[in-house]
Parts: sequence; structure tokens; C-alpha cells
Amino acid sequence: MMKKIDIKVEVFFTPANIDELLMRDRNVVVIDVLRSSTTIVTALNNGAREIIPVASIESAAKVSGSLFGDVTLRGGERNGKMIEGFNLGNSPTEYTAETVKGKSIIFSTTNGSLAITKGKHAKHLVVTGFVNVTKSAEYIASLRGDFYILCASKQNSFCIEDTVCAGMVIDKVQQLLKQNFIMGDAANAALLLYKTYSKSILKMMQQSEHGKYLKELGFEDDINLCADVDSIPVLPVLHGNMIVLKKEEGNG
Ligand code: MLT
Repeated sequence: MMKKIDIKVEVFFTPANIDELLMRDRNVVVIDVLRSSTTIVTALNNGAREIIPVASIESAAKVSGSLFGDVTLRGGERNGKMIEGFNLGNSPTEYTAETVKGKSIIFSTTNGSLAITKGKHAKHLVVTGFVNVTKSAEYIASLRGDFYILCASKQNSFCIEDTVCAGMVIDKVQQLLKQNFIMGDAANAALLLYKTYSKSILKMMQQSEHGKYLKELGFEDDINLCADVDSIPVLPVLHGNMIVLKKEEGNG
């Protein structure tokens, strides 16, 4: 039997005030359930080559200027809406195989891509939503060490769907490793919230602030997609400054 080691887990409800260096050499889970995580998972699953997260629209313009136009798309949103001059918004439904296969996507969203860029010095970073939560938890469990969960949140304040997903990751990793973790108040609160909402994920999301906002914008179907637990079991991980699908062991 493998020896159990103490594992510490920290949850950050928002990337505000998080210094990039805090994430350095850490195992980091970035969560933006509505909708960046779900969109990234969908795009990579549909054959996008890579996602290049950038924090600002200006950086998106700079990065795309140095890449070949015919293989590059710009995707993202501000306040849920497509950015002028971009090819795609932030609805997972836009990232079909027909549109994204073989493409590099420069991706800038209000909170999600910002949270990913905060984790750019991580040792391992995985982008997680409900759609790939078990796969992410299995990956984190396989690392057998401390891990940080960074919730993208909404405009730098607490958001429930990312926190519930963080609690679900913790619960799953604890079950996989058959041990409890050393956790602060934020991680304990996330676990507790997950236990409260585990049977009503979709309803929790429909009633969330961001869920209501997306409904107002006409993106109600996106909420259903984003709430669909384990529907897209793939692993988007940080590789250099890009997010790519982690190759399965034995697949090169
Ligand atoms: C974000 O990064 O703030 C979100 O993904 C916003 C959205 O739902 O488009």
C-alpha cells in the first residue's frame, strides 16, 4: 500500500490580489465554470490546437499580430459579449469542430483568462469546469501533493458556481486518495457548499448571479452545457504559455 502523505489544499475565491509568484511551482486548478473553463474544454475537445490565454484585449492584438492569420482565431468576451474585431465570443456552442479544428485560439475573457495567466508559473495547471471535473480530480490525485484551486470568480468577487466546483474537486480527490486534507476556511467552505448543492448543480447555476446575467443575454443553453458533469472528460493543461490537451499515458 502506498504511504499517505499530508496534503494541503488552498482555495482562492478570486484571483484579485493574487500574486503570480504565489502560484509558482504549485499544482493549480483554475475554475471558471461559466464559461471560460467550459469553452476551453469544448474547443480543445473539438480539435483546437491550443488556447493562448491573454489577460487584456491589447495583449490579444499583440499576440495575434505575431501569428499566422489563417490558423489563428481570437475568442473571448467582455461582460459576456463578443469583443469587437474578434472571431468568436465565449459561448461553448461557437467552438465547433468545423470552426476550431487545427486552430490556435487567442483567448481573452473578463475573469477566466486572467485567472489562468495568474497561474502561468505553476508546476502543473489544469483548467477545470463541471464538464471535466472527474478527469481533473484524477489528474490532481495522481500528482499526490499539495494543490491550490483558483476560482476565476466574477469581477473579483465571490461566485458560487466556481466555489461549488472547487468543493467537488476536493471531494473527489479525497475519495480517490482515501484521505482527508489539511484545509483552511476557504477550502472547508467550498467543500461544504458542494455538499449542499451536489444534487442540484444546474439549479444552483441558474440561480447564480452570473447564470441570471447569461440568461438575460440569451445564453440560457450555455448554462445547461456548463452544468453537465463529466460530459467532456478531457484534460486542458498549461504547456509553456498555452493550454493544450494533456496526452494520455502511452499516447506519446
Ligand atoms: C469570464 O471569464 O468572466 C466568463 O467566462 C464570462 C462569460 O460567461 O463569458
